[in-house]
Amino acid sequence: MSEKKQFYLTTPIYYPSGNLHLGHTYTTVAADALARFKRLSGFEVKFLTGTDEHGQKIQLVAEAKGVTPIQYLDGIMKDIKKLWSDLEISYDDFIRTTEPRHEATVQAAFQKLYDKGDIYKGEYEGYYCTPCESFWTESQLNDGKCPDCGREVHIAKEEAYFFKLSKYQEKLETLFAENPNFLLPVSRKNEMVNNFLKPGLDDLCVSRTTFDWGVKVPFDDKHVVYVWFDAVINYISALGYLSDDEGEFEKFWPADVHLVGKEIVRFHTLIWPAMLMALDLPLPKQVFGHGWILFGNDKMSKSKGNVMYAEPLIDLYGIDTLKYFLLREFSFGSDGSFTPEKFLSRVNSDLANDLGNLVSRTIAMVEKYNGAIMPTPTMTEPIDGELKKLAGDTSMNVEAAMDKLDFSGALESIWKLVSRTNKYIDETTPWILAKDEERKPRLDTVLYNLSESIRIISILIRPFMEKTSNRIWTQLGIEEGHETTWDVVGVWGTLPVGRTVIKGANLFPRLDIEKELIRIEEKNAKFFAEKTGQPVAKPEVAPVEEPEEEEETSMIEYEDFTKVDLRVATIVEAKKHPNADKLLILQVQLGEETRQIVSGIAKYYQPDALVGKQVMVVTNLKPRKLRGEISHGMILAADDEETFTLATVADSIASGTKVW
Ligand code: MSP
Repeated sequence: MSEKKQFYLTTPIYYPSGNLHLGHTYTTVAADALARFKRLSGFEVKFLTGTDEHGQKIQLVAEAKGVTPIQYLDGIMKDIKKLWSDLEISYDDFIRTTEPRHEATVQAAFQKLYDKGDIYKGEYEGYYCTPCESFWTESQLNDGKCPDCGREVHIAKEEAYFFKLSKYQEKLETLFAENPNFLLPVSRKNEMVNNFLKPGLDDLCVSRTTFDWGVKVPFDDKHVVYVWFDAVINYISALGYLSDDEGEFEKFWPADVHLVGKEIVRFHTLIWPAMLMALDLPLPKQVFGHGWILFGNDKMSKSKGNVMYAEPLIDLYGIDTLKYFLLREFSFGSDGSFTPEKFLSRVNSDLANDLGNLVSRTIAMVEKYNGAIMPTPTMTEPIDGELKKLAGDTSMNVEAAMDKLDFSGALESIWKLVSRTNKYIDETTPWILAKDEERKPRLDTVLYNLSESIRIISILIRPFMEKTSNRIWTQLGIEEGHETTWDVVGVWGTLPVGRTVIKGANLFPRLDIEKELIRIEEKNAKFFAEKTGQPVAKPEVAPVEEPEEEEETSMIEYEDFTKVDLRVATIVEAKKHPNADKLLILQVQLGEETRQIVSGIAKYYQPDALVGKQVMVVTNLKPRKLRGEISHGMILAADDEETFTLATVADSIASGTKVW
């Protein structure tokens, strides 16, 4: 017997909060589906999650509550674990950064890098964002505020230890250049390379003295280890790296994939790999930076009141419905907006109409036309071929999609089979066959084929919707066993005959959208009020950020003008911004470089019509984010009340040419 292949996947470790919202569950729900899929398809899986428990913020909150940090954390931990248990997240290990096994590895790794000279002592001065625990340089700030969370920063200065991140600049450049799959989706790679690697990496401050809730630097206990340096080590401390027993580390490292949200890609694809290089360890095979789930058009925020929680949706519709929606509706790499309307309409169309009806119609017909006994198929007709072929292909399509972490694509292929099977009912009209005793063998075959397709579907959906898969097995009269394994998912004819089917309630009853919208709103508001002690505020809708208009013309010096770097760029790609109707996301060629510019021209141009156009671009504007997408420059245009036109060149000229 061959040994199973290992698969190690991780979610980020969460900041402890008793208030995790629907967006927070996204990484973990996706990781869970991947872990279940890998187990089903024969891997030995280690799926790690946990909590990130150090840092000044925790210390301050605990002080304000009059408890010790660990008392505060232990309390909150119950809420997080309960949420994961409500969602039946199948993690294999849960690591807390306050556990001795983690702290010991952090200290040993810190010592190792200090001994090697990759950590040294110096003095740090910079802009510090307390909520994000991040130091920023002036050029990284966004309008003087933290580029990650947009909050105020303050100057902080302290004696500190530094990690020689700059030493790994070249190796990191090679990593990105030679491993196109190291960071996915590709757009995130461009962001890392253009915004961080190209300007050059500075050494990273990795210790703090202004508070003490952290892992002590082993040889200088005035200092605690910087929380991000501490946190990323969880991926190897959980495997026992540098402990007495490194068995798991040897077995599972390097990780197959770290799943992270897009805002923490920098830590996982620059700092963490450099730390691993310094420790002489292999790098994770892949980091996937998924998009955000917005509420309507906005980032979910408790204080703005535009927040949706998972619990009310689970209470009302069950975890399978929620998991299906999250992974089917949104493309994993992009931002997506949650609205109760979208949720309900998908439940009705995909789950109630397509899957629910298919199962209930089929089981009802086996009951009615064959006394609830699974018939033996004896009379195949050519029309069966297409269904059988699609059923066989679907498992391969799902496998290919899951390998790319394309959860939505995997579910879409499964639902093609659901639709094809529903169509087969209409094509074969079992109710007409049932009228003619001579056609009984054909009727039996049709009923068997429908049931067999449902068996295949029940295995394919299992990583996403285990409860539904179990309910289908009960209705088909089968149990977990040979016929439910991945090995036979595509082997037509595996469903045993002669078993008694059991008609159950529709798997997903059709929902009355108007009524359910009210129920969701009420339940969410109640949950919010219980969690926070405040009534839910009316959601605020943030205006689309648009380039500011210059109202007055004032004279400038020639030197001021020369500061503006104007160049001709060629638009090579254009698409709509997923979360802002007015914006287009453009990729423009500037000499050898391609960069992203977000521009408020969606009203005037179809994306396709822009590709190939040469436009004038201000290239040295500080990058800024427009509705979550980085814009690296500005496209010039002219408009009056009637006409809007891009500033372009009279003759074609090399992209990147300077404009005077
Ligand atoms: N503690 C750090 C991670 C350290 S990993 C070494 C952290 N924690 S977090 O609690 O803020 O975020 C945990 C995960 O939730 C991240 O992957 C983050 O991207 C994800 N999400 C939080 N809000 C989200 C949405 N609205 N939508 C999708 N995912 C988002 O970062």
